[in-house]
Formats: sequence, C-alpha cells, structure tokens
Amino acid sequence: MNLDRALHLLACPICRGDLSRFDGQLRCPSGHSFDIARQGYVNLAGSAEPNNADTAAMLDARARVHAAGIFDQVTEMVCTMAHGSGTIMEVGAGTGAYLKAALGDDPATVGIALDVSKNAARRCTKADQRIAAIVTDVWKPLPIAERSLDTVQAVFAPRNLPEFARVLRFDGRFIAVTPRPPHLAGLRDAYGLLDIPSAKSEQLIAAAAEFFDLIDTRIVKYRVSVDEGLAADLVAMGPNAFHEPPTHITASAVNIDVTVQSFRPIHA
Ligand SMILES: C[S@@+](CC[C@H](N)C(=O)[O-])C[C@H]1O[C@@H](n2cnc3c(N)ncnc32)[C@H](O)[C@@H]1O
Ligand SMILES: [Zn+2]
Repeated sequence: MNLDRALHLLACPICRGDLSRFDGQLRCPSGHSFDIARQGYVNLAGSAEPNNADTAAMLDARARVHAAGIFDQVTEMVCTMAHGSGTIMEVGAGTGAYLKAALGDDPATVGIALDVSKNAARRCTKADQRIAAIVTDVWKPLPIAERSLDTVQAVFAPRNLPEFARVLRFDGRFIAVTPRPPHLAGLRDAYGLLDIPSAKSEQLIAAAAEFFDLIDTRIVKYRVSVDEGLAADLVAMGPNAFHEPPTHITASAVNIDVTVQSFRPIHA
C-alpha cells in the first residue's frame, strides 16, 4: 500500500513527531491525527485548498499532454539528472508523470508526491503503487523527516529551498525544471498566455546559493507539432485555465524550451 512504504520518511506537520498508521488515520505520539482518504492519499495541509491548486480539468488536460509524449525529452533529462534510486519526492507533482518516470524500474524505490491539490494527490496515488501522495502546501514546513531523501524534484512547480535543504540527505540532489521565455511561445502569443520572466534559472541559482551548490545545467529545447486538441490541452493545463479559456484554438508547432538544473546541498 502506497503510504506505508513512505511512513518512515514522514513527520507530523504540527510537532514533527513520527507518524504511524492506526485504522484509517496517520497519528503521531502527541495525538495529532490525519484521515487517510478512501483513495489512499493523506491530507496534511491543515487548511483549505487554495485557489491555485490544479483542478480536475487541468489535470485531465495535463495527463493527455503527457500521454501524447510532448514532454518526453524533458522527462528523460529529469531522469538522467535525478539520483535514480532510493527516495524521490516531487513537489507540485500534478499527475505524477515525472515522478513515476524518475522511480524507474526498481521496486524498492519510494516516491513521495506533494501537491496542494486533492485531485493531484488522487492521481498520483493511482499513477504508481510506489508513490505516497500527500496534500500539503509547499510554502509551509514540509511533513518530511530531516535528511531523509535522495532526490527532491520541482518541475514547473514552487520551490521552498530551505525546506528542500532540510529534508535532503547530505549527498542528495535537488532537480529543478524551469521554463525559458520561448517555451510554448506560439501558444503564448496567439492566446495571450501569461509571460515567462527571463532568467528564471539564473534567479534560482541566486536564491539557492545559501543552501545549494549548482552542479549541472542542461537546456532541453525542441519543436513539436500539436493538433487542435493538444494545443487546447496545453493552454488548459496551465495557470491560464484559471481565466477565461480562449476559443478557436488551432493546430500549430510549439517550442518546448526549459532549463533542467541539478543542485547538491551545502554541508552545514
Ligand atoms: C504547473 S503544475 C506542474 C505539475 C507537474 N510537475 C508537471 O509538470 O506535470 C504545478 C503543480 O503545483 C501545484 N501547486 C501549486 N501551488 C502549490 C503549493 N503552494 N504547494 C504545493 N503544490 C502546489 C499545483 O496544484 C500543480 O499540480
Ligand atoms: Zn504531532
């Protein structure tokens, strides 16, 4: 069962105590308890879902985009740069596609999917039996034991750098994927999608410097042709979906253009 394999890596979000399973709950020795959802994920957020949590419709669109292979070369690079085995956590895991790929074929590998969206947690639980899915806000202290993880990955997702440094083993890796300005540019121009600030990866290096050394940077860029349905899904899976979706989307060629960076924690 998904959660059980990851229990030793989790910590109570209130007191940081160990968590154990009793009936349908996770409990710590101080008596804090958290219901395990029927679908197998656990909600450790302690607050209502915020407005920017991915919706079921956004996740459906994202799942179709991943199934069509549009981000396959990005996935391959993440897998190449991740530690490859042991314990891998993805924050803002969405459908769990990148985490599932990073877990590879090793049945002993343990995955933890964090997302603020309950819909995402449901999907991650289904994506792979090795994934324990947890609803939580990455901007809060993470419900994860100190120095317990081999890899933390954030793919187009928010990054809580001090917390990532706390939960990673000294020899662990933090893998970040950030979009570059040309990413999905055709769709961006045609449908008024939100702009990508330039130098996102440079900003990340500066922000991470207190906690991490950069050890590798790769640019992954290619063009893919998408039909009308996939073009609509690429629009619908992102933050633009929170606004009025554009009508009359047409088939086009789009740029995939991202930076994949690997960092290692600075020893205190
Ligand atoms: C752009 S999606 C990326 C999903 C996945 N990594 C992928 O690339 O397919 C961002 C994800 O981060 C989640 N998210 C947004 N804010 C978050 C927060 N504060 N804490 C945890 N997850 C968050 C969203 O619900 C969504 O699933
Ligand atoms: Zn507790």
